[in-house]
Amino acid sequence: MAERNPHFRRSSLFCMLAITSVLFFLSWFFVLRSTSRPHFVDLSTLPNSKLFAVVENGNSQPRNQDNVDLSIPNMPVSVDYEKEAPQVEKLMKCNPNKVVLKVFMYDLPPEFHFGLLNWKPEGDNVWPDLKTKIPDYPGGLNLQHSIEYWLTLDLLSSTFPDSAGARSAVRVHNSSEADVIFVPFFSSLTYNRYSRLQPHEKKNRNQLLQENLVMFLTSQEEWKRSGGRDHIIMAHHPNSMLYARMKLWPAMFILADFGRYPPTIANVEKDVIAPYKHVIKTFVNDSSGFDDRPTLLYFQGAIYRKDGGIVRQELFYLLKDEKDVHFSFGSVSRDGINKASQGMHSSKFCLNIAGDTPSSNRLFDAIASHCVPVIISDEIELPYEDVLDYSEFCIFVRTSDAVKKNFLIELIRSIKKEEWTRRWKRLKEIEKFFEFQYPSQEEDAVQMIWQAVARKVPSVRLKLHKSKRFSRHKDSRRKREIITVPRNFGER
Ligand SMILES: *[C@@H]1O[C@H](CO)[C@@H](O)[C@H](O)[C@H]1NC(C)=O
Ligand SMILES: *[C@@H]1O[C@H](CO)[C@@H](O)[C@H](O)[C@H]1NC(C)=O
Repeated sequence: MAERNPHFRRSSLFCMLAITSVLFFLSWFFVLRSTSRPHFVDLSTLPNSKLFAVVENGNSQPRNQDNVDLSIPNMPVSVDYEKEAPQVEKLMKCNPNKVVLKVFMYDLPPEFHFGLLNWKPEGDNVWPDLKTKIPDYPGGLNLQHSIEYWLTLDLLSSTFPDSAGARSAVRVHNSSEADVIFVPFFSSLTYNRYSRLQPHEKKNRNQLLQENLVMFLTSQEEWKRSGGRDHIIMAHHPNSMLYARMKLWPAMFILADFGRYPPTIANVEKDVIAPYKHVIKTFVNDSSGFDDRPTLLYFQGAIYRKDGGIVRQELFYLLKDEKDVHFSFGSVSRDGINKASQGMHSSKFCLNIAGDTPSSNRLFDAIASHCVPVIISDEIELPYEDVLDYSEFCIFVRTSDAVKKNFLIELIRSIKKEEWTRRWKRLKEIEKFFEFQYPSQEEDAVQMIWQAVARKVPSVRLKLHKSKRFSRHKDSRRKREIITVPRNFGER
């Protein structure tokens, strides 16, 4: 589990090379411009077009070798400086000296995090020594919401001397120097394990821990300084933090979706959507293309659900007589995970229908299977959608259309091999954004989540500074000013 990533050192070399060649490319291009020739350059004739392709794929695995690089079309393209800018930015991003998110983490007692994994602290240590043993997170469906575990591990290891490579976040010990304040509470695991009342308890442990957390946080200097706005709280399971969310909502939540939140408590502007960890197997070395996948459309899930679940039944009746459609009900059990892996790996399209929440881990299972997702969930919010265009590899269908007779099946049948293959290839390129692992690797889920947090930092600062404008009048000369949270904060 703890093996080092050999790509780190090589990738910084790549970056150096790439940046130099972009500069070369640009200067060359300016020469072209200044001689006022027509602005048509065949990229494929450029000496560094290969290099672009390499950098585009980053430190991709050998399995990506059969990918066509879609970003550099092999035909004459009109190049102008403005178009090239994002490409330069992208390359600069992999500069080893890039600015990384500085994160202060509270040293919460182990009962809030690794203690829940039956890890026993030694002495005053509240954190495990990751160099000797990494505590295991429970498997099965618990894993879907395990982002709390991966993000915390990543922070703990961020100051190891040999982890300097591709980092998106680093732990700092002085909170005044931090961009954000991280709350290492494993709230999803707490919900999964301890939300039932035990015979000897007055209150279940899930609620008790949340109450203690609220008490702890609201008494911290860091919280008072910002009203909690620069705090990161993980609540990936839709039912986690049910009690504390109403008290801690000025913070930035990391969530699966907004289905069970009022928009003032959580919303796209303030919070970050993180992927589920997929539970079915990654399709390694997938050469199973359009003609190798016999099932046209695959769905496996529970049927009788509240709200959005009615759609599932309607779709079932619309699709049940199609021969190459697999549509079955039942949740994924242990044996079911293997079956579902086989099913998704041999299907062209995988259905994602809203259940009792807008999101589900089925989408991430489909991505790991390179089974083109068909999303029927009007309220769904997707991870890192500000930097990732899901329409390149998913099909979105409005619920009102999906339940029209023949609409869905005709739409799916109209997508031919060429278009499907384009999406399949794109899936293989972007699947790394959804992999959770330790140690984290460049552009995996852990780092993509940190980067999504980093993109929120300027707006957090803006709100913070604005809220300080008149704070002197309220509380005449006292140094410790408690910032009140405007009532409409975060409203859409
Ligand atoms: C923490 O950082 C602030 C701002 O850079 C600095 O003024 C302060 O002295 C630092 N505190 C400690 C304990 O190093
Ligand atoms: C995938 O392909 C690579 C390179 O061809 C090979 O080294 C690796 O063992 C393969 N993995 C699996 C699981 O087949």
